[in-house]
Order: sequence, then C-alpha cells, then structure tokens
Amino acid sequence: MVSLSSALQQHLSQPLIIGSVTLHSRVLQSPLSGVTDRAFRQLVRRYAPTSMLYTEMVQATGVCHAQQLEKIMDIDAAEQPISIQLFDCRPDFMAAAARKAVAAGAKTIDINMGCPVNKITKKGGGSSLLREPEVAEAIVRTVAEAVPVPVTVKTRIGWDDQQINAVEFARRMEAAGAQMLTLHGRTRSQGYHGPARWEWIAKVKAALDIPVIANGDIDSVAAAVRCLEQTGADGVMCSRGTLGYPFLVGEIDQFLKTGIMPIAPTPVDLLRCAREHLGLLWRYKGQKGIHQARKHMAWYIKGFEGAAPLRQKLCQITTVDEGYDLLDGAVLTVKLQYRPFCPT
Ligand SMILES: Cc1cc2nc3c(=O)[nH]c(=O)nc-3n(C[C@H](O)[C@H](O)[C@H](O)COP(=O)(O)O)c2cc1C
Repeated sequence: MVSLSSALQQHLSQPLIIGSVTLHSRVLQSPLSGVTDRAFRQLVRRYAPTSMLYTEMVQATGVCHAQQLEKIMDIDAAEQPISIQLFDCRPDFMAAAARKAVAAGAKTIDINMGCPVNKITKKGGGSSLLREPEVAEAIVRTVAEAVPVPVTVKTRIGWDDQQINAVEFARRMEAAGAQMLTLHGRTRSQGYHGPARWEWIAKVKAALDIPVIANGDIDSVAAAVRCLEQTGADGVMCSRGTLGYPFLVGEIDQFLKTGIMPIAPTPVDLLRCAREHLGLLWRYKGQKGIHQARKHMAWYIKGFEGAAPLRQKLCQITTVDEGYDLLDGAVLTVKLQYRPFCPT
C-alpha cells in the first residue's frame, strides 16, 4: 500500500513557488521532444488541470529564423501554466528567444542543460553545459535579465561517473538566477539507461534554497511517493511514463492531494484515448500528424495481450480513418474478451 508520511504531506500541501509564479500542483509534465506538442498537452491537461506543462525543446537560434520552430511555441491560453524550454549555448540568442517565448505566453523559461544527443552537445548545448559551468551561468544570468518571468534549469547529475558535479553545478545555477532546478538522476553517458540515482537529487535538494524537482523513473504513483520520501524534493516531473499514458501526471497529482489511489484506465479507456490523440494530431498537423501518431498508438497498446499484429498495422496507417477503424475494431475485441458470462 502506498502512503505518504505526515511530514511529506505537510510539505506537499503548500503551493510550489517558482519566483513570481505560484503553482497548485507539484507534479510536472516534462518536455519531450517529438511528444509534448499541443495534442499531447491537451490530453495531459484534462487530467492534470493545475500542473506545469512544457513544450518540446526549442533551439534558440531556430526561433529567430525557422517558421517550423514557431509552431513548437504555439500555445493556447487554456494550456496554462506552461513553460517553454530552450536550448543553445549562446546567451544572447537565448535571451532573444526567451523574449519571444514570453510573448508567446510562457509562464517560465526553462533552459535545457541535460539533452545527451550528440548533435546538440557537439554544438555546446544540452548536457555539454555541465562541463562549461561558466557558459551555463552566463546563459541563466543573461536570460533572467532579459525576461520578466522566472528562469529555470533542467539538467543531469553530471557528464559521466567520473564527472558527477550536480551539487556544485546546481549551486552555480541558483547563484546565477535560476528560480527552480529539475534534476534528471542520470549522467549524460547513461543516456536513458540504468536506474535514476535519486540519492544525487537528495544531495542537490539539501544544497539549494530554490525548489528542486526530481526527474527519472517517475512512472507510477508509488514511484513518485518513494522518490519524494527519499529525496525530499519539492515535486516530481514525469517523462517516459507518460508515453501512451497521458493520465500519469494527473494520477500522481490526485494522490498527493487526496491520498486516494486513482482508478487505472481500462484497456478500452486507453484505446479511446489513443483515438482522440490521433484525431488531435490530424487536426493540428494534418498528414505529418498521422505519421507522428504511429508511435503514440504503439505506446498506448503496449502490454495488451496479442498486441503485435495491431501494432504492426497501426505503425503503417496513412489516413486518420485507417487509424480510427483499427482502434474501433480493437475496442470491440477488448469488449468481447472482457464481457462477463451471463447464463440464460
Ligand atoms: C523521447 C524523449 C524526448 C525527450 N525530450 C526532451 C526535451 O525536449 N527536453 C528535455 O529537457 N528532456 C527531454 N527528454 C528527457 C526527459 O524529459 C527526462 O529527463 C528523461 O526521460 C528521464 O525521465 P524518465 O526516466 O522518467 O523517462 C526526452 C526524453 C525522451 C525519452
């Protein structure tokens, strides 16, 4: 049985204060490139009405030049509170992009200092900033001076096991003006492998005055509670646990607020949610949305008995109607499988 200690309950019952922004939820939906677009956020928002949502990361230089990236920053007033995440290594470009992001409606500006992808680290962005703390400080300071909203940082515990510098790095970001820090409990070399090392999150939490949000392996209510108890963090951020499961942030939020364990969605609920997600991607992105929907559909049916042939078909859809037909057919099959036996 999952339960919260009274000390933790007391701590979590307070709003989360990020500089001038007050949040009434301590569960956050992480930025996920290729995932946290308007369609996905609309579903997360339904179950988590007060949680902070994040856009996919936006390259600061791209914001100035590419129309495509302006689409990433396309946010709706109903989505608030929402943060726009930026990445780059040039403070002046970051500041210019941050001003645009605020004009687009960002409640906070988050700076990505954790992305492990070579294409980004080679250019000095993402997790490579862990090895360039002076540049990271300059970015935070310049952006904080440029915008009237809080600036936050999302980073990892270090570059690799030989260079774990989370505590010192986090202190420097706080001193430079960061108003909240989210820590993914893995090194850059770990990528997404191996368990998240929450003990480092506890050390960073103990060292900072600003809120510290725990990230990594928060994939259930139980994991969130365990992490909060072990780290003393001010909140949790959900990531891969939300792929094909936009209910997660809301479920954890409900439990932290009420102590009541949420009722898990049924397979039919998941299929209906997948259908709605497909429809939203079609509405917002047209044909490109159909292609993007394929991976989402596969995530929704992960773990379903005999899902392989359905997954294969869903991964080949070219029209929204093909997807609807497959998902509607699956709803029918699931309902028949689960129909209780009624003797006549
Ligand atoms: C598909 C995918 C896309 C991601 N995109 C971003 C991103 O745009 N910005 C970011 O800060 N982190 C990004 N991340 C990292 C996650 O936000 C998170 O830090 C990481 O997955 C650890 O949490 P988890 O173990 O719960 O998945 C991404 C991760 C995945 C799997």
